[in-house]
Amino acid sequence: MENKNIRYYKQLDSTNTKISELARDGAEHGTVVVAECQTAGKGRRGRIWESPVGDSIYMSVLLRPTFETDKAPMLTLVMAYSVADALRKRGFSDVQIKWPNDLVISGKKLCGILTEMQLNGSEIDHVVVGVGVNVNTSAFSEELVDKATSLFLECGKLMEKDAIITDILERFMEMYERFVKAGDLKFLQEDYNAILVNKNREVCILETGNEYTAYALGVNEKGELLVRLEDGTIKQVYAGEVSVRGVYGYI
Ligand code: BTN
Repeated sequence: MENKNIRYYKQLDSTNTKISELARDGAEHGTVVVAECQTAGKGRRGRIWESPVGDSIYMSVLLRPTFETDKAPMLTLVMAYSVADALRKRGFSDVQIKWPNDLVISGKKLCGILTEMQLNGSEIDHVVVGVGVNVNTSAFSEELVDKATSLFLECGKLMEKDAIITDILERFMEMYERFVKAGDLKFLQEDYNAILVNKNREVCILETGNEYTAYALGVNEKGELLVRLEDGTIKQVYAGEVSVRGVYGYI
């Protein structure tokens, strides 16, 4: 998939919302929207994604896959791995993935991913994969200061956002093609698990109407998190509307 179709905006409500509008107007697979700031940036589970001007990457990718709907959440993992890999290749070797949709460094959140799917009947019309990366942020709000970090705060240098965007997109397009060809995440499973921060940790799983603790073992070829429950049984946690945090904190 070529990636020449990047549209830049000074301000948007949300790059995910904009991509969906463009999709409805017929935008093609691979279209990318990047904004300098967002006035209504969306996080998972209805949260707001703080999106001040200038310092961070806010971007969304439009995909028009022909696979079944249950595979769409795997795209979050493909993107998470792609961003992590792009950043690790730039020297941020401590970047890890917090399943299913966060990247962390020094125990703090560096990047969040929001995947949204639009159906046409029972088939996928399009999928939006939105990515927010804290790049040159020098300070966070009181609410986020203990939980969030940026590349600048980690290395003390200002980074060029466009170069990082290019790296991420190149990596993602390559991984996406491999995923579509393979039909699952077997090709990525080992590398993904190697940088999975939850692995071999006690975690708290928050599903709609259900909350429990378990021991995380890693992801399987479907991108599900394998966890061992207290009674010893192994459960597969589907990467849909689920959150995972550490038993004693964020990780
Ligand atoms: C999360 O961690 O809750 C997911 C955050 C996703 C934020 C990005 S910023 C670009 C894109 N547009 C949005 O409105 N949200 C995603």
